Formats: sequence, C-alpha cells, structure tokens
Amino acid sequence: MKHQRHPLAYDSSELPTSWAEPWKIKMVEHIRLLPHDARQQAIATAGWNTFLLPSSDVYIDLLTDSGTSAMSDRQWAALMTGDEAYAGSKDFYELERTVQEVYGYKHFIPTHQGRGAEHLLSQILIKPGQLVPGNMYFTTTKFHQEYAGGVFADVIVDAAHDPTSTLPFKGNVDLDKLANLVTSHGAERIAYISIEGTVNMAGGQPISIENLRAVRAYCTQHRIPLMLDATRLVENAYFIRKQEPGWGDTSIAAIVKELCSLSDGCTVSAKKDGLVNIGGFLAVNDDLLAEKARALVVAFEGLHTYGGMAGRDMGALAVGIRESLEYDYIRARVEQVAYLGARLERFGVPVVVPYGGHAIYLDAKRILPHLDQETFPAQRLAAELYLEAGIRTMERGIVSAGRAPDGSNYRPALELVRLTIPRRVYTQSHLDVTSEAVARVCARADTLGGLRMVYEPEHLRFFQARFEPL
Ligand code: F0G
Repeated sequence: MKHQRHPLAYDSSELPTSWAEPWKIKMVEHIRLLPHDARQQAIATAGWNTFLLPSSDVYIDLLTDSGTSAMSDRQWAALMTGDEAYAGSKDFYELERTVQEVYGYKHFIPTHQGRGAEHLLSQILIKPGQLVPGNMYFTTTKFHQEYAGGVFADVIVDAAHDPTSTLPFKGNVDLDKLANLVTSHGAERIAYISIEGTVNMAGGQPISIENLRAVRAYCTQHRIPLMLDATRLVENAYFIRKQEPGWGDTSIAAIVKELCSLSDGCTVSAKKDGLVNIGGFLAVNDDLLAEKARALVVAFEGLHTYGGMAGRDMGALAVGIRESLEYDYIRARVEQVAYLGARLERFGVPVVVPYGGHAIYLDAKRILPHLDQETFPAQRLAAELYLEAGIRTMERGIVSAGRAPDGSNYRPALELVRLTIPRRVYTQSHLDVTSEAVARVCARADTLGGLRMVYEPEHLRFFQARFEPL
C-alpha cells in the first residue's frame, strides 16, 4: 500500500519558530492556592501590603525577581564545595576573577546585597549637599545617597515618565537636563552620575550604548565620575543586541563589558542577573576608592574577602554570573516577560510599553482612573490581585516614592503595579493564569475603592506600611 503524506494545515514558510528555555526542571517546590475567604483574611492581616503576606499564603509570587531565581545544578554543586574560611576563601578569589573578567573593573569588594554596595559607594563619594544625577531613582539607591547627605536629581528622558511612549531606550539620559543641572550648580557640586542598566522604576527600560557613550564623554569633559548600577545589566545588554543598530551580532558578554568600560565602577545586587538568592558587590577601577571601600566594608558588611556572603554563596554567584551571559538563557528570560506583556495587552490591560526586562508593569492610573493618587490606586490593585487569584505583586507608585523633605508625598507620574518574573521559576501556564486573573480584576476595576495609610515607617515605607480600605 502506498504511504499517504498528510497535508500540512500551513504552508511550511508560515510555520512559527518558537524558542524554549535552555533548561529542564529537576526539582519542584509545591505551591497551593488558599480559598478566597482565607485570602481575604490574609490581606487584611497584612495591612493590605503584599510585602507583609507570609509566602506560604501566596500561590504565584511575582513580588520580585530579587533573590527568587532557581539555581542550576552547577550552582548547587558549587555550594557543596564552598570554602567557609573566614579569610581568603577560594570562592572569593574565584568570584573576584569572574567579576574582573566579566565586568572588567580592577577592584572587587563583596557585600551582603546591593544596598550594602550602595551604602559603601555613597559614603565614599558623596559630600553633604552634593547632587547625584541619575536615570530615575531607585528606592534603596536614593536612600543611601540621601543618607550620605546627597540630593538625587532625575535626568532621565521625559518619555520614561510616560507609560504609553514606545521609545525603545526609555532608560536613556536626557543630555540637556544633565548639562543644565551641571551648568547651574557647577561640576564640583556633582558627586557622580548614577546610571542604572535597565531602569527598574521606569518599567525595566534599557539605556543604549550610544547614550551611555555620550554621557561618558560629558562626564570626562567635566571630570565627573560615572557609576553604574549593573544589577540588571545583562538584561540591558540583551535589549541592546536585539534593538540597537550595529550590535545584533555581538555577544552578550562583549556588550556587558562595553557598557562597564564606559563607567568608573558599579554597584550590583547579585540577587537578580547573578542568579543567586543573596549577594552583591561594589567594583571600581580607582585604587584610592577601593582602599576606602575596603576600610568601610569591614565595619558594615564583613571581611573584605566575604562582605557578608558565605563562601558557598560566592561560589554559586561566580557560576551564576557566567550562566547569565549565555544568549539562549537571557533570551528565554526576557522573552518570557514579553510573553506575559503580550497576553495582557491582548486582554486590553494597560501596561507600560515597551515591556521591561524583568517585569510587566500595570498602569494603575488607567486601570483605576476614578481613584485619587493619594488613595493609593496601585497599592489597592496589587492587593486585589492577591484577593482574586493568590498572585503577589508589588506597588511601584506613590507609596514607593515616599515623602519630600517638606513632608508632602512625592506624586510620581508613574503609578504602577509590578508583575516581576523570577528567573527560571515559573512556566508559561503560570503566566497564563496570571494574565487571566489581571484581566478579571480589570473588568471590575470600577467597583474598587481606595485605601488610607494607617501606619508609616520612617524609611522606605513601602516595605512595612499598613493600609485600610476607605
Ligand atoms: N538596584 C536596583 C536596580 C535594584 O532593583 C535593587 C533591588 C537594588 C539596587 C538593591 O539591591 O535588594 O540586593 O539590596 N531591587 C529589588 C526589587 C528589591 O524588588 O526590585 P538589594
């Protein structure tokens, strides 16, 4: 009998070409969805603040991508061979070599996490009253700048404050804003310029190499140091390779190195790109700065050869940094985020565009237009997503922005809820469940009221503030 070839439903040139994650799952962690009345009780007990929910009450945890990555078998192997000597652990030297090779800086100073590095850098470089211009603030970064007596000044492009602007590099610095600031205050009043690679508070938006080069040229001309927050620089490098003309064939590793070469040093929270659960570092080129940082690290973090990390943590981080540079990995990571963004937009949910590298941000101002910003629409929306489907997200709006020195609330243009995707943790189905839950909440958004704040801590209030429904 002659074999009959089954006709394809598509012309073969129309067949899609999907990507898949370059890993498979070896160990699983059980999660469960609490019943609705238990979720109602849990969010009330948590003061309507998702940071105060016990994680055992959460089904899909999109609070943050910080320290929530799944490590690889190679990283777990490195944990087992960690050298826990107080001084001079072999894992310190391995991590130092890795950071020097990958990021290209001369000196490496380990810290317990990113804010530890921000603390050291701010104490060393900022004199009271000096300005620190940056491409939008980040909560802990700005806190440490102010704690050292500095004043943060936002010099990001205007488009970054517009969630509907589709500009490809919304993390770019507005060079006119920067020049005006420096001209009106004088270069000696600028401590350094603080540049974040993929800007978290703008929605995970990247900066282009072209823009960073121009900022570098300006800084060199005016003798102003340029410091990077390289926490999500690998994700930034992926966007450069994907969409900046001339970089499509360059390896992620080479782009990361190029970005770092335009700066004098960096702070890193290793809990993100680094694919580990804890850790961070400061890296600088200047010998004197490194000496000052090493003098401080022993007071605040730990000896200069562990900085608050266990030897095994440093070993796992050295492996994680190298894994983060693999193209198939970083593509799967960033495109998984884009998958969620596209699903939400298909349901008509207003999100920040372009999609960020680590998260999709819901635009609470457009979802809850009837709520005044001082009744905390994004905080309310985040709580509602938990009520709807046990999904934990985070407010990134007026609560996160905190108060001005005169005591009034900053009223940021962006009032967002962040759906942050942990690395190598959730599947496409988890994101399908998430997008459907968001769509259901949006469909009844007009029935949601605002909140009032009933407890406000002194610093970084979003972590611990408590609320009640109005
Ligand atoms: N810089 C950036 C850009 C960050 O996103 C974070 C942390 C830090 C510095 C501070 O690092 O947490 O290790 O002390 N971001 C977390 C988040 C908290 O959820 O976005 P850390």
